[in-house]
Amino acid sequence: MNCFGLSHTLYIIYLLQFLVNGTHSRLNLKYAILKQTQTSSLQNDTFAYRQQTKYDVQKTMRVIFYTNNTKTMEASAFDDKYDLKGSGCSTSDKFAIVLHGWIQSCSDEWATSLIERLSYYRGGCVICIDYSVVASLSYMRLYTNFDTLTGAIASIILTLIRQGFDPKRGYMFGFSFGGQLASAVGRSLWPHHIIESIDTCDMAGPGFDPIAVDHSKAGRHVQCFHSSRDKGTFVYSCHRNIMLGSCGLKQPSVASQLHLGSHGLCVDIYINTFDYPFYALNATPSECWSLQKAAKIPEGYTVGYEENYDSQITGQIFVPTSLHYPYNLSKKELLRLLAKK
Ligand SMILES: *[C@@H]1O[C@H](CO)[C@@H](O)[C@H](O)[C@H]1NC(C)=O
Ligand SMILES: *[C@@H]1O[C@H](CO)[C@@H](O)[C@H](O)[C@H]1NC(C)=O
Ligand SMILES: *[C@@H]1O[C@H](CO)[C@@H](O)[C@H](O)[C@H]1NC(C)=O
Repeated sequence: MNCFGLSHTLYIIYLLQFLVNGTHSRLNLKYAILKQTQTSSLQNDTFAYRQQTKYDVQKTMRVIFYTNNTKTMEASAFDDKYDLKGSGCSTSDKFAIVLHGWIQSCSDEWATSLIERLSYYRGGCVICIDYSVVASLSYMRLYTNFDTLTGAIASIILTLIRQGFDPKRGYMFGFSFGGQLASAVGRSLWPHHIIESIDTCDMAGPGFDPIAVDHSKAGRHVQCFHSSRDKGTFVYSCHRNIMLGSCGLKQPSVASQLHLGSHGLCVDIYINTFDYPFYALNATPSECWSLQKAAKIPEGYTVGYEENYDSQITGQIFVPTSLHYPYNLSKKELLRLLAKK
């Protein structure tokens, strides 16, 4: 008991130090960004210039429609009406919006796999919003375009809603920087239009932390998967915060998937939740630090994309992952892990 108490205390000291250090460098980044925006806005804070930037960003954005996992149409972010017949989508269908992250696009392997899984399990209209031209800039430049991108994506969704799509049948997914976008877009539409469900994967931390944002105001059900300590956020304000691997900070499989890292593994794991069970622990592991209340987990509960969202389950959920693809643990391994503790 003493030993447990001591190691727990040491762990908390370590975490606090880590948080302070991490926060410190992020604050510096934030100030650097703010300073940069201030100087440039002093020189150029004209309505015309802001309109120009917005125009430049939207000009390069593409809205890509898929039905039955087949790309049916590509449109511009400027369109105030989409050719729904041409897209094969019907406004009575469910719709899903996919948002990629920094230095990514809708053609990335994870994006095409996710579109495929969503088409198979969810059906309806899948729409990937490609902002890869802006996403290929430095992280700082991308970050300074955050509000412009949020506005552009919100206006795409408003166009869809105006054409008859129902936000009650809406779902939005965002990875990393795209996760922050998904939350900001959802919050900008709220409460006038409430997107039914939003899932994010290792929402980006740098530039955003430690600003307390209420991500639960982004949609009816907001669940956020967390997988890394260096690139993911520490703001756990979604309805559900799913802590993958070691306390949502690190994935054991980085050892076998060096090219992905704990951050990149988040989408791979999310995609695998469609086909493999990822069992949740029924309590907070002693080595993990929990700020949010722990969720009450029913026996055998698995996490991932949830077609019929169980709104009874909210709070922090811990889900151990394994070393090798597809990264799930069998029930037996889970019990063995619990027995060891
Ligand atoms: C200010 O805006 C003009 C366009 O209105 C642009 O050509 C110029 O590069 C901008 N200057 C800076 C410092 O961003
Ligand atoms: C998609 O598949 C369904 C069922 O197989 C079919 O009814 C529908 O017509 C297809 N839609 C398109 C646009 O191909
Ligand atoms: C992952 O899930 C599958 C399907 O239930 C199961 O057969 C497999 O044992 C699990 N993976 C591991 C590593 O146990």
